[in-house]
Amino acid sequence: MSLESSEGVSASAYQALQSESHGMVESKPCAIHDLSVRQAEERIKTFPSTRYYGSKKRLLPWIYENIKHLPFRTALDAFGGSASVSLLFKAMGKQVTFNDALLSNTISAKALLANDVLFKGEDEVRVFFSGITPRKGFIAQTFSGKFYLDEENAWLDGAISSIAEQPKSKRAALLYCLFQGCLQKRPFNLFHRANLSLRTTRSVNQSFGNQTTWDTHFATLATRAYRELEAAIWRTPIDHTVLTPSDVSDIPAEYELVYLDPPYVSNSNGGDNYLRRYHFLEGLSQYEEWPQLIDHSYNNLQLIMKKHISDWQSKKHFKDKLFSLIEKHRHSIVVLSYVANAYLLEIIALFTVFAIVEVI
Ligand SMILES: C[S@@+](CC[C@H](N)C(=O)[O-])C[C@H]1O[C@@H](n2cnc3c(N)ncnc32)[C@H](O)[C@@H]1O
Repeated sequence: MSLESSEGVSASAYQALQSESHGMVESKPCAIHDLSVRQAEERIKTFPSTRYYGSKKRLLPWIYENIKHLPFRTALDAFGGSASVSLLFKAMGKQVTFNDALLSNTISAKALLANDVLFKGEDEVRVFFSGITPRKGFIAQTFSGKFYLDEENAWLDGAISSIAEQPKSKRAALLYCLFQGCLQKRPFNLFHRANLSLRTTRSVNQSFGNQTTWDTHFATLATRAYRELEAAIWRTPIDHTVLTPSDVSDIPAEYELVYLDPPYVSNSNGGDNYLRRYHFLEGLSQYEEWPQLIDHSYNNLQLIMKKHISDWQSKKHFKDKLFSLIEKHRHSIVVLSYVANAYLLEIIALFTVFAIVEVI
């Protein structure tokens, strides 16, 4: 769906992970706006694979086909998640601003939207991860029997300490690789339940899991993730912006195109939200503060809930929040991805009030 556009450029940078360039640059051609959808598909295939819940990675060729005619130079990926759509905008030669409420996604986006490769190839990353010394730290002491084996928890404690000793500029990429390994070793690639036994009970896990990946060492999975990350980094003439993780409602209206991919609210109003799904990665992202952030009333030791995340997945608040967000960005082109459900007709009606609407 689209509304008419306004002028504007991207805003504040994500300070915490801002870093100097190390000057190792890999150059590839970037703009795909003049490519056929088939050619764009080939380019999109170089983007990293993702197991992120709700990622639009697989839909990117289709999204490209439907937005390539729109006139915009600056784009806000407001619920950025795995940054797949941000990468598409970058590949289209647009100036991208990424936002997500989760810190782990923000760190990953920082790595994915980088203009420079910061490591001397995969070997440097392999040596780093294979040299990790396990230690019995907070994860080993707190999460025994929850998500990973005891020796894996100790390895994660060691990995976080070693990453913290690396130059700031390299930390986002290393954390991104670590996160990918963590997701791949989890049943369903999530942390909503403390269900390590699904992985370790042979009679259960044969039916749905990927035992081979679960048994693969973190260091191997993280190095593989780096290979994919490096293949997806290319230089563009403009720098892209990754906002400090924030509530989407706080972002100013100053982008020519705003892409909205809000969480899906199930008709039953049950289900999980993104903080519950990915709390362990959020903990890894703020390791020193992690002990104070845990809600011990949950068996999965998830983080204390943030209202601006849970509200976007509550039937009570979702519609008002979405409608006021669209209204706020009414002078921009607004592109909305949403699952067809009971709310959809009202969403179309809202768009019709403002401008030209395409339902695709
Ligand atoms: C459907 S996913 C987006 C998927 C993304 N387009 C992709 O391709 O990976 C929705 C995202 O909204 C984020 N989110 C939830 N509440 C938010 C809020 N209040 N402000 C910003 N982001 C929020 C979640 O962390 C999640 O990553």
